[in-house]
Amino acid sequence: MAQQLSPADRAKFAAARRAVDCVEDGMKLGLGTGSTAAWMVRCLAERAREESLRLSCVATSTRTAELARGLGLRVMSLDEAGWLDLTIDGADEFDADLTLIKGGGGALLQEKIVATASDRMIVITDASKEVRTLGAFPLPVEVIPFGAQASRLLIEELLGGLDVMGTTASLRMDGARPFVTDEGNHILDLALGRIGNPRQLSLALNQVPGVVENGLFIDICDAVVIGYPDGRVEMRDAVAGTVEQERIVFVESDNIFHDI
Ligand code: 5RP
Repeated sequence: MAQQLSPADRAKFAAARRAVDCVEDGMKLGLGTGSTAAWMVRCLAERAREESLRLSCVATSTRTAELARGLGLRVMSLDEAGWLDLTIDGADEFDADLTLIKGGGGALLQEKIVATASDRMIVITDASKEVRTLGAFPLPVEVIPFGAQASRLLIEELLGGLDVMGTTASLRMDGARPFVTDEGNHILDLALGRIGNPRQLSLALNQVPGVVENGLFIDICDAVVIGYPDGRVEMRDAVAGTVEQERIVFVESDNIFHDI
């Protein structure tokens, strides 16, 4: 069954499986959103079942909450959990400083709140997300629906004076209607091409009226696990200053492959 997965899914699975090894009994965990995070939730649920781990999980979206609950994980609100030991999430881009672009799945607001309320954040990814300079992936910015077009114009004007290559902001659509986040907001995707100064950009964007949060994660991610289709994984830990390589073995009988 694992052999039938696409190379991208095999890479995501390998990264997810390695990151779940960092989970310990009794932990409070943040669960990310997206296709890589979904692999992590499946791996986590399997480990929790096999080892009878007592875990408390906070999801970063309704779809992750549904997946986690459906697999038997205990899901609660962040306020119920209080503070988290570890959050594991995907990313759309990461650079050498482990600065991230997130929000491709539209969950950046809850993802940033949950990751920031965690002692540690591990990003799981395939090698395609690593970049020298952030910005090829359009930067998502969450805005309230009221005056979203005015916020868009203000952002485009702002971008003209910053160290970026492009200045176009597009309202994300879901068919014929604007995409709506779990908080009832909209997303503007900024085609920047290159982000010269992520910190300056992040601070400036969050000053624009109507902006709730942007998808730049700066000084939040502690480690990244990069998975490859052949099962190799590389874990770069910025806090420990270590780089570890190992190989995940795809076990055909793994339960997690059965419902894919
Ligand atoms: C959702 C996110 C995701 O983590 C990001 O889009 C990566 O998703 P995927 O693992 O499907 O490539 O930020 O808001």
